[in-house]
Amino acid sequence: MKEKNIPEHVAIIMDGNGRWAKKRFLPRTFGHNEGAKNLKRILTHAKKLGVKYLTVYAFSTENWKRSKDEVETLMSLFKTYIKKEEKTFQENDVKFIVSGRRENVSKDLLDSIDYLSEKTKFNKGITLNIAFNYGGRSEIVDAINKIIDSGEKNITEKTFEKYLYNDIPDPELLIRTSGEIRISNFLLWQIAYSEIYVTDKLWPDFREKEFEEAIESFNKRERRFGGINV
Ligand code: FPP
Repeated sequence: MKEKNIPEHVAIIMDGNGRWAKKRFLPRTFGHNEGAKNLKRILTHAKKLGVKYLTVYAFSTENWKRSKDEVETLMSLFKTYIKKEEKTFQENDVKFIVSGRRENVSKDLLDSIDYLSEKTKFNKGITLNIAFNYGGRSEIVDAINKIIDSGEKNITEKTFEKYLYNDIPDPELLIRTSGEIRISNFLLWQIAYSEIYVTDKLWPDFREKEFEEAIESFNKRERRFGGINV
């Protein structure tokens, strides 16, 4: 691709797995499986283009309301993903981190998360941040409670950020697949100045070409951060 301005951090709401499966008369779980395969494609491609951080919304604090079956599928998919991708992450220099609450997540899954985070903590190629059991409001409330516990006073925007789940740069670009135009409690603090790109493509169909189109669209935006460009 010709574009020079590659965002350092891209965040994605990977929506539409269920609809992708429904269109094919398949159970929703098939859609999630395809979604996980697609995450691998997009992660590899993002790294190739020079993106340094990729944050993806894999399970929200609201997703517990789904059927027991679907919740279990998403939990076990994450566990399998961690197991399967360890080698690829090491070979491709991927640092794996997770943002979200630990409560209600099984010890087994937490152990896998901690294991892969530890194993990849010195990798520098790209950071994959999986938002899992994540809610933007919970993240802010959790940060406030950490600040109270720490006793730190005179909090500024900069010092506040240290208390978020992960202290990484804000995403310049937020992509949402499958056409819904809403934020769904994702990265509420971090997206204050992000460019938002919504596409009708369902997540399993959002491939390398579509990712590049999102970056091309980002390149055409004029980012003013509340100021005026002269
Ligand atoms: C939204 O689509 C997607 C999710 C709630 C789960 C996202 C999970 C993946 C892409 C799989 C990869 C995850 C891991 C942990 C490796 P939806 O089910 O709400 O779709 P719909 O709106 O069409 O029903």
